[in-house]
Amino acid sequence: MSLLKLSTQSWSSQTVFIMAAVGSAVGLGNIWKFPYIAGDNGGGAFVLVYLACILIIGLPILLSEIALGRTGQANPVQAMANVAHESDASRVWSGLGFNGVLAGLLILSFYTVIAGIAVAYFVTSVQGVFVDITSQQAQDLFEAKVASPWELLFWHSLVTLFTIVIVSKGIRSGLEKAINFMMPGLLIILLVLLAYATTTGFFGQSVAFMFTPDFSKLSWEAVLIALGHAFFTLSIGLGTMMAYGAYVNQNMSIVKASVWIVVMDTLIALMAGLVIFSVVFANDLAPGAGPGLLFQTLPIAFGQMVGGWFFGSLFFLLVVMAALSSAISLIEPAVSWFEQNWGIFAPKIGLDLGCNCLVDRPGYGTIL
Ligand code: PFF
Repeated sequence: MSLLKLSTQSWSSQTVFIMAAVGSAVGLGNIWKFPYIAGDNGGGAFVLVYLACILIIGLPILLSEIALGRTGQANPVQAMANVAHESDASRVWSGLGFNGVLAGLLILSFYTVIAGIAVAYFVTSVQGVFVDITSQQAQDLFEAKVASPWELLFWHSLVTLFTIVIVSKGIRSGLEKAINFMMPGLLIILLVLLAYATTTGFFGQSVAFMFTPDFSKLSWEAVLIALGHAFFTLSIGLGTMMAYGAYVNQNMSIVKASVWIVVMDTLIALMAGLVIFSVVFANDLAPGAGPGLLFQTLPIAFGQMVGGWFFGSLFFLLVVMAALSSAISLIEPAVSWFEQNWGIFAPKIGLDLGCNCLVDRPGYGTIL
């Protein structure tokens, strides 16, 4: 059997891998995009199409990507080269891995900007600025933020630096530690917010907005939106899940892991939607999409509610955690490629678990 260049690192358990992959999947897409596109494109009818896209297309691709990573056991570029080598295919396949490295960095370039604004909003919320804020003040605040390049650069750089530091510390000392803290935190915050949402008196309206099926609104465009979102929300088609799959041991079940990732990602998106719309409807505000909903409508809504300072700050902390755990995964393909193929970031050389290196080892001989 020929020797392959394989990574020396692995997840310490299947649960940690699932949490990291769920962390990648759950992000801004779940919190600011899914609830709105669901409500706007036929509610329950859209959710049904979305679930079909997730199950029929998303799940098999997710599984395949993790399987490619686990078989290749290296960063996406090297993993594809390893798999191609094992199956006597062209080395050109490694270009697919390189595509993942590049695409991850491109998405990261805007993702960290929004994550930076979320951090700024968390700090602003804790300072009590949103209490009793008017709609004009909320609009002015957001416009001032996005019109201030130095402030944006500061928050964006902070998030990027944090992301690089975590990932460059390696799987067990960096990624796992961050994930072990962020994912349970994210889930607890979401459950607290969900409980709070049920007390607003508008939980039922929120459920109706998201789930009442209106098949007249379900166009082909809506089907494409559902399909595109299924790819984005599951972090597939980019090499991210391949990069995470590279650290999965052969004795872990990737089918079970993939099902968990899909179920958790979908449940969290649905819960986030119910929280957001309960708060928005409770204040007689209009549900909108993207930055407007997150950074203008929600501060007004929380600012007018009893306990709004606390729950608003918790909400922005949730957005920050979701964005950070996705940002980490967006940069992992590039960082692992730089570490393993170029020796950049690698703290030590050798078989030390802190070192993300490649060693020559026999491959597994099979692809899946
Ligand atoms: N899945 C993330 C979200 O829903 O916000 C975004 C994302 C992360 C897309 C990682 C792609 C990726 F590789």
